Amino acid sequence: MVRAAMRVAALVLFASLMSTQRVSAQDQCEETDISARMSQAEDRVSRLEDRLYSVLSQSPGTSANDTLILADLVERLADVTRSLQNMSLSNQEENQTPVCERGMASKVSEPYLLLDNSLLNRKIRCDTQTDGGGWIVFQRRATGDVDFYKNWAAYRAGFGDLDGDFWLGNQALHTLTNANNYELRVDVRFDGQDFFAQFSTVRVENESQKFRLHLGTYSGTVGDSGGSGMIFNDNGRFSTFDQDNDDYSHIHCAVSRHGAWWYKQCTAVNLNGEWGVDRIGGMRWYNGATHRYAEFSEMKIRVV
Ligand SMILES: *[C@@H]1O[C@H](CO)[C@@H](O)[C@H](O)[C@H]1NC(C)=O
Ligand SMILES: *[C@@H]1O[C@H](CO)[C@@H](O)[C@H](O)[C@H]1NC(C)=O
Ligand SMILES: *[C@@H]1O[C@H](CO)[C@@H](O)[C@H](O)[C@H]1NC(C)=O
Repeated sequence: MVRAAMRVAALVLFASLMSTQRVSAQDQCEETDISARMSQAEDRVSRLEDRLYSVLSQSPGTSANDTLILADLVERLADVTRSLQNMSLSNQEENQTPVCERGMASKVSEPYLLLDNSLLNRKIRCDTQTDGGGWIVFQRRATGDVDFYKNWAAYRAGFGDLDGDFWLGNQALHTLTNANNYELRVDVRFDGQDFFAQFSTVRVENESQKFRLHLGTYSGTVGDSGGSGMIFNDNGRFSTFDQDNDDYSHIHCAVSRHGAWWYKQCTAVNLNGEWGVDRIGGMRWYNGATHRYAEFSEMKIRVV
């Protein structure tokens, strides 16, 4: 009886080890297939473990040595089960879609990922690397192939292509910043040199509030002396050529600056302005000292 039990135990151990190896050799097969095989193997091991225990308890006259050997086998089976569970867990982690979140830079190598955003129920472009990554890009102008002189409805819904130049949309900006606390970062390039502006908080109100912008404190390299730079737009309402919500009665800023922005008594920063021109309606950034014109811009928000 004891010998039979030991033979069962040895077979069990052998079978489970083989199934572990077969599972781990399935690198090429699909995630669901691996998971299914993992749980099958786990089931098999635990069923065999149960059988082993019952054989053990039904064996009268088992010698002390036999019991020790059997107990050892049971222990080794338990190890196999644990490492199967471990493999299953690490397999799940590897196959998880990354989330656009701070600190992801160490886990992701692509500079950008297009990821599903459940709140918006659409894809977003995630900057995975800048300052640890985790930024949802909401404005990008890199090639000039998209016209940014668009109306209220277009800015509300968003336009362009997430792989090219685009505006994510004012409604999306409101939805995100209304649901969580976000910070803002603006990356710009002037004459081949990169600069950035960061704001500790950012919030965009709803459409009936004309998507009014609220910014926290500035930090960065682009400069904002004397309230110039983008902090000038704090508390500004959004305007487009067909909706004048600026603080001037005699100037329609969206038209005079050829853009769409949180104009107040117009603006120091005009990143939705005309592409490729060095004049006031261009992609200007006035930092209180110099007027510069961006040849690249990316505006992005990240949960704080
Ligand atoms: C138990 O095993 C030890 C060494 O493994 C051996 O020396 C001893 O004789 C065995 N005892 C019995 C009762 O089989
Ligand atoms: C399971 O994984 C953890 C961490 O990766 C490791 O410390 C542990 O030894 C593993 N256990 C088994 C049974 O493989
Ligand atoms: C928009 O926001 C204002 C101020 O927070 C609020 O009073 C109003 O109810 C909101 N309107 C809609 C349509 O959600």
